[in-house]
Order: sequence, then structure tokens, then C-alpha cells
Amino acid sequence: MTHSIHNITNNTRFHTEKDETILQAALRNGHLYPYGCQSGACGACKARLVSGKVEHIMRDPGVLSDDELEQGLCLPCQAVPLEDIEIEVKEIARAREIEIKTLPTRVREKTLLCEDVVQLYLSLPSTQTFDYLPGQYINILLKNGRERSFSIANTPTQAKQEGLELHIRVVPDGYYSPQIKDSVQVKAILRIQGPFGTYFLRKDENQPIIMVAGGTGYAPIKGLIEDALENDSKMPITLYWGARTRADLYLNEQAEQWANRIEDFTYIPVLSDASDADNWSGRTGFVHDAIAQDFPDAAGHSVYASGPPVMVNALKEVFKNNGLDADFFYSDAFDYAAENE
Ligand SMILES: Cc1cc2nc3c(=O)[nH]c(=O)nc-3n(C[C@H](O)[C@H](O)[C@H](O)COP(=O)(O)OP(=O)(O)OC[C@H]3O[C@@H](n4cnc5c(N)ncnc54)[C@H](O)[C@@H]3O)c2cc1C
Ligand code: FES
Repeated sequence: MTHSIHNITNNTRFHTEKDETILQAALRNGHLYPYGCQSGACGACKARLVSGKVEHIMRDPGVLSDDELEQGLCLPCQAVPLEDIEIEVKEIARAREIEIKTLPTRVREKTLLCEDVVQLYLSLPSTQTFDYLPGQYINILLKNGRERSFSIANTPTQAKQEGLELHIRVVPDGYYSPQIKDSVQVKAILRIQGPFGTYFLRKDENQPIIMVAGGTGYAPIKGLIEDALENDSKMPITLYWGARTRADLYLNEQAEQWANRIEDFTYIPVLSDASDADNWSGRTGFVHDAIAQDFPDAAGHSVYASGPPVMVNALKEVFKNNGLDADFFYSDAFDYAAENE
């Protein structure tokens, strides 16, 4: 049974196919709705259902609460229409269509950046093109239909030379990330699918940018910054990097070099768990508290935040209370895959 979806924000209409979610139908019909995890875990797709009924495949009350559901909000990545619906979604304008591909890649280079972060460069097949916007993510396809998402840390121009760059934190007891450290070797073949997500630089926004990375949330932030540099952007950038210890700032020198080299680029690392051995004289505490202190008024800024969901959620609260227009808050929460068996 197909149903019609009417987005009243831009007055567009399309139809679902059987059992399709709103997001799947939108993307299939060429409408770029905001999204992140696609698994009901990050809330990036949250939208207002104006009329009609939907059923959520999965709904975590921490992501879409009972109150929000009652107020008419829904998660398009999980909501399957049961009848014709009207919805309010601010669609994302994009410069070009980007095809989602499934490709074999080969590990070209593997480096341990610190005790628990591995940097991989994946070579793409020479006969294939792979287009993406820096900041988007790919899925590595595993056995048994499992997949894990990783953000791309470099630009398509750089990836043509060096391969797709990933920064992977090794999660103790995780299913896949320990394999990256222990058993995935140079020359291994990894199947990937992508690109996905709507976390990329909005180049038409002419206002100062606050970027916030938590841990390996630095990966997509690095992609965004390299993209801004390639495009000769003149927008002032303030980069915060929140980590536990000094060693976790695994590419600290790179961020310092940007700050030294680029006009209007400020770098503020913040450690939550610095030890005496770190000999740290910089900022301490949680990165969201540092930002609340530094930006009592964030009106007129664009914000990009990526990393652990708990950090992204804390930042949402900070920016709700300091004058930022919510339309200019872009985030990528590194949620865990839903199917841990
Ligand atoms: C859009 C997106 C982009 C992402 N990009 C990146 C990236 O660039 N770099 C990166 O390192 N990761 C990234 N992730 C997270 C990544 O996809 C995996 O979730 C992560 O690597 C853990 O996978 P795993 O199989 O090792 O652990 P799983 O087997 O999935 O996890 C096992 C258990 O470990 C715990 N766990 C999982 N992850 C963490 C964590 N981070 N901290 C504490 N406990 C945890 C949970 O309790 C979980 O149930 C991203 C996730 C999303 C959704
Ligand atoms: S909750 Fe829908 S994309 Fe993450």
C-alpha cells in the first residue's frame, strides 16, 4: 500500500513504497531530508507530523519522548506512514546529486594515532569514482549483514591521492573496532557503502563557525576544515576538541598548525581527565561547559558538533540557551549500531 507524503514547508509531494519509512521515500524521490544514523538513535531527522498516522519501527524514548510524540513529532528514519500524511521538514539544498555506492576498498595505510585510535586510508578501485561531501560517513559492511559507520576525515581531492581517511576509536568489548586494531592489516579488502548523512559544510552561510569535536568526532570536523581551506573560505572558525587526556588529542599538532597558519582560526582543546603526567596548562572540564562560558551569546553563528551522543546532547542544551538559531546547529552523533548481538 502506498501513501502520499506532503511536505508543507516547501509544498512537495511524493509517494512511499510498501513498508518504506518517510526518510527512505524522501531520499528515493530525490528529496534530501536531514538525517544521521538512520537507526532511530540520534534524533537528527526529527520532524513535525502535521496530519496522518505513522508507526515507528523503533522508538527510543530518550530520542523521541512520549511527550514529543504526543506533540506531533516523529522520526522520519523510523516512521512508516499508515495513511497519507502531511509533514514539516526543512529540506537541504545541495549543489549536486551524489550516488550511494557499494564498493570494495583496500587498506592502503594503517597507523595507531594513540593507544585506542586507528587511522585507516582505504584505496578506492581505480575504475570507479566515489563522490561525497567532507563530513559525510560510510558504512563498512561486515558479515551477517552487520555494518559499522565511520566518518570520512579528508576531502574527495585528497582521497583521490591518499584514499578515504578514517579515524576509528577502539571500543573495549566492541564487536568490530577491536578487529580493526588487531586483525585488519594493510592490503585487506573492506566493503563499504556510502556516502551517507547530512553533516557537511553549508558554504552559503556567511557567518562565524564554531566546530566541536569529541574524541574521534575530530574525523568529520577535519573533513569540514579541509573543505573550508580548499574553498578558500574566509569565515572565522573556532575549533574546540574535547578529550579525556592529552594523548587522546591524537592530531593536536595538526590543529595547532591550522591555528598558527590560518587567519581567524582559533583552536581550544579541553581535557576532562588530565593527569599530572599530562602537564596540562590548557582548559579543563567538559567541552560543552567551556563553550557555555566562552559563548554566552552565540547568535549569528553556525555550529558543527560531532562525537559521542552525550556530548552532542549536552551541546544542544547549551546552544538552546545562548541565542543560537537552532537551524544553524548541525551534528553527527556517533551512536552504537542497534543490532549488538
Ligand atoms: C554516523 C556515525 C558516524 C560514526 N563515525 C565514527 C568515526 O568516525 N569514528 C569512530 O571511532 N566511531 C564512529 N562511529 C561509531 C562506530 O560506528 C561504532 O559504533 C563503534 O566503532 C563501535 O563499534 P563496535 O562494533 O566496536 O562496538 P559494538 O559492538 O557496536 O558495541 C558494543 C558495546 O560497546 C559499547 N560502546 C560502543 N561504542 C562505544 C563508545 N564509543 N564508547 C563507549 N562505549 C561504547 C556499547 O555499550 C555497545 O553496546 C560512528 C557512528 C555513527 C552512527
Ligand atoms: S534518529 Fe533518524 S537519522 Fe538518527
